[in-house]
Amino acid sequence: MASKRPTIRPLNGRSFGVLLEFDDGAPDTAIDDFIASADLIRRAIADAAGVMVVKGLEAISQAPDELVRISRIFGPEVENYHETLTGARFFHDEIPEVLVLSNLPPCSFPPPLRPEPPVTADGRLPVQFPHQRNWHTDQSYRRPPPDITLLYGVTTPPADQGQTLFADCTAAFAALDPQLQNRLKGLNGIHAPSWVGRTPDDVRAGNPPKPLLPHQLPQRHPLVRYHPDTGRPALYICEEKQMDFVDGPIEGLETGPDGEGARLLRLLLEHATSRQFVYVHEWSPGDLVIGDNRCLLHAATWYDADTHPRLMWRTTVMGNPGEQYRGEAKSWISTEGLAANLGMEDA
Ligand SMILES: [Fe+2]
Repeated sequence: MASKRPTIRPLNGRSFGVLLEFDDGAPDTAIDDFIASADLIRRAIADAAGVMVVKGLEAISQAPDELVRISRIFGPEVENYHETLTGARFFHDEIPEVLVLSNLPPCSFPPPLRPEPPVTADGRLPVQFPHQRNWHTDQSYRRPPPDITLLYGVTTPPADQGQTLFADCTAAFAALDPQLQNRLKGLNGIHAPSWVGRTPDDVRAGNPPKPLLPHQLPQRHPLVRYHPDTGRPALYICEEKQMDFVDGPIEGLETGPDGEGARLLRLLLEHATSRQFVYVHEWSPGDLVIGDNRCLLHAATWYDADTHPRLMWRTTVMGNPGEQYRGEAKSWISTEGLAANLGMEDA
């Protein structure tokens, strides 16, 4: 049977991102139809600055390996979490490419803290930094970092909680003053995971940073990355839990949580996460959201984990990070083998 092309259109009311739906809602062929439209889909995501929401893939809930099959259209390597630093409670027990994010055991991953202020004047959860926290791009503490993240909702809280926010860092960069753009192009951010003792809280508390093996060290990335498919520049930053406030967060600028580097980072975060650059995804079970880490920030909003179960599956795809990473070995894989990853189980 010939495959059917899905319909792709802009996300309602947003300047970036697209929505993909299947015309006849044919659940039996939806996954094959999706894969058969790979070229169209990749182009649509690139043209839409990195975000696609897909409706109609409920079949994945019964077959998580299908999420891996779909992920393969986005790059040569879907991360196998057995081979990296990830703690066992975070990956699917049968499909090693599927990361599990859930408040249910054994994962028992807590939701983000309820932000302060808890809601905006119109009763909604805030989106803009610093009222909304944890804005990041996945695994930026690695070189090369991953290209694409696919996030699938198996069990989702009510739509006004547990949302996923995306910020368009291409548009955010384009909207900056040209002088600031030029300054940023010459700077590197220093990225580190939260558990190595380099967050602002660690520095303020005087906690010594953890001693790290070579493959656990913070990694530098340009503050402005040029997308390898579109050539367009985008801000590449994360907030405090994924930057290094001991030697950074910005190489060459005053270090520490209150230094010039931190002030510049906070200014950029507040700018990039203002409403005009943000899409709020309100989840329904069976939704698939695809986000390009090379040109987006994302964050999860609070949800009432005592009342609502949440089960998300995630894959990360790598292999096209751009010219400046060409030929690099994976920074996070030790030549000593997996035993050298002790102490990094929360990665
Ligand atoms: Fe993430």
